[in-house]
Order: sequence, then structure tokens, then C-alpha cells
Amino acid sequence: MKGETNTSIHVTKLIRLIRLSVVLLFAFIGSMIFFVFSLSFNSNPQPIETAVSTEVLDDADWDKIENGIHVRTGLIDSEGLMAVVSNCTNCHSAKLLTQNRMSADQWNETIKWMQETQNLWDLGGNQEIIVKYLTTNYPYKKKGRRAILSNIEWYELED
Ligand code: HEC
Repeated sequence: MKGETNTSIHVTKLIRLIRLSVVLLFAFIGSMIFFVFSLSFNSNPQPIETAVSTEVLDDADWDKIENGIHVRTGLIDSEGLMAVVSNCTNCHSAKLLTQNRMSADQWNETIKWMQETQNLWDLGGNQEIIVKYLTTNYPYKKKGRRAILSNIEWYELED
């Protein structure tokens, strides 16, 4: 009889101990989760700050010209630049313009093609300005022309 009571006391103590360790385990896991979260929040303030500051910079530098280059698009700063920037860099990058060296006729053809197939709007009087800008600043280059020779040792021809 006495032995049985002792055992049940032992069992009760054991159950309490298990309960206590379960509570401690949960508290430990909880604090670990909290720790990890607070770490990941603390390691982030820098990116957030830079994100804010670049946004401010972007606004201020939106149409910045540096060394004769429109920084945002990489286009040469020259007469008609803004007409080109506001009409020709909406759908694709300005690289498409600077890599395509064309004559005025070819530019007008390309613009017509984009208007017919790519929903490019009517450019009105800007079309002439844009084509003039493109042919002036990115002139048509004949492909396949070799570079000018230099430092050539000529043979003396003997007769
Ligand atoms: C409404 C959108 C839109 C606008 C605005 C726009 N384009 Fe395009 N353009 C396109 C699309 C779409 C293509 C095809 C891109 C491709 O082939 O991946 C294209 C292609 C081009 C090409 C390449 C043509 C080729 O033969 O591969 C050039 C050059 C070009 N555009 C110049 C211009 C110029 C100059 C302007 C300003 C007058 C302009 N684009 C404005 C949509 C536009």
C-alpha cells in the first residue's frame, strides 16, 4: 500500500518534470524564433535606407546630363534629345536607336513600321526633329570598311 503511494508520488513528480521541460522547451524555441526574427530585421536597415536615397537621387537626376550624355538613356545631349527621350525610350531601351545606324529614309520607314505594327503614336512635328537628331548624332556607318592603315613599311620597287 505504502509502496504504491510512493510510486504514484514518483509518477506525479515525473509528470511535473516532463511538463516543466516541455514548457521550457517551448520557451526556448519561442525565444530562438524571436532572436532569429530580430536578427533578420536588424540586418536590413541599410538596404531600406539606400532604397529610399536612390529614389530621391533618381528623381533629382531623372534628366541629368553628364559629359554631354543624358545619363538615364545614354543618349548624346544635342538638339532634339528630349523629343527622342520622351517618344523613343518608352517601349525599348535607347540602345536600339544607337545600335541602328540608318539614313533618314530608313528611320522614317522604321517609325512607320512601329506605328503600323507596334502601336507607336503619331509623332507630328517631332518626327522630323527625332530623325534629324538620330542621323546627326548617330550617323549611318558603312559597314565593312577597314580602318585606315598606319605605320606601313613600303617596299622599294626595283626595276
Ligand atoms: C509604342 C512602343 C514603341 C515606341 C514608343 C517606339 N518603339 Fe521602336 N520598337 C518597338 C517595338 C515593339 C520594336 C520591336 C522590338 C523587337 O524587335 O524586339 C521596336 C523596334 C525598334 C527598332 C529596331 C528595328 C529593327 O529593325 O530591328 C528601332 C531602331 C526603333 N524601334 C526605333 C524607335 C524610335 C526612333 C522611336 C521613337 C520615334 C521608337 N522606336 C519608339 C516599339 C516602340
